[in-house]
Amino acid sequence: MADARVLKIYAGKVIAIDGPAGSGKSTIARRIAAALGFTYLDTGAMYRATAWIANEKKLDLTDQDNLHQLLVGWDVRLIVEEGKNKVYFGEEEITEAIRSAAVTARVSEVAAEPIIREFLVAVQRKYLKSGSVVLEGRDTGTVVAPRADVKIYLDAEMKTRAMRRMLEYIQDGKDTTLEEQTKKMSYRDQQDLNRAVGPLKKAPDAVVIDTTELNIEEVTDKVLRVCKARMSGAKAGSGK
Ligand code: DC
Repeated sequence: MADARVLKIYAGKVIAIDGPAGSGKSTIARRIAAALGFTYLDTGAMYRATAWIANEKKLDLTDQDNLHQLLVGWDVRLIVEEGKNKVYFGEEEITEAIRSAAVTARVSEVAAEPIIREFLVAVQRKYLKSGSVVLEGRDTGTVVAPRADVKIYLDAEMKTRAMRRMLEYIQDGKDTTLEEQTKKMSYRDQQDLNRAVGPLKKAPDAVVIDTTELNIEEVTDKVLRVCKARMSGAKAGSGK
């Protein structure tokens, strides 16, 4: 946990972490936020919550009226409860529901819709005003927070990313194979990289870290060193 002196030094700073699925963004962003006493913002959870609403309400998003209805009724909150990050739609907790296979299958379509992106980027920027934030996603260093104090781009080889995702599924008691996860991940990579608005892209000033050969502790250490160096104005070459 961060002490009071650290909190003061880094007050109001923004750390943006981007990268493809399975690169370790969520785990690392959570750890960095905890170490520095920052708020953690999972922008992917917002896209997932939006896809969940579209599924629940059976909305065909090619219809402009449906899109409008979706955004007008977008009552999603990301909060910390009993030390855990939770997602609510109105009074309903949807933390687990937004990780379902049905949501994962729909979310690329939702995330490619320019009106939805514009809306969610505006919501995400409001969260940034609340203080020191670590946010993670695909476009946080390029679109959401182009003036972030620190930008990190995490990457890893496809096989490693698919393996990590497979192990997560198995830990959750879900049945899957490496082949299935590789296929799903390639599809999501293509969707993320090729959409017209807010594609997954390295910001030119991002520090790129390949996590293929690194464990969670090693990545956390590297990212933390880069963050501290950049936030105190020093060059951050050691993180590459
Ligand atoms: O990080 P994740 O797998 O929970 O993200 C869910 C989906 O949302 C994924 O298809 C990419 C998309 N996404 C996005 O387009 N922009 C972001 N800033 C974050 C996620």
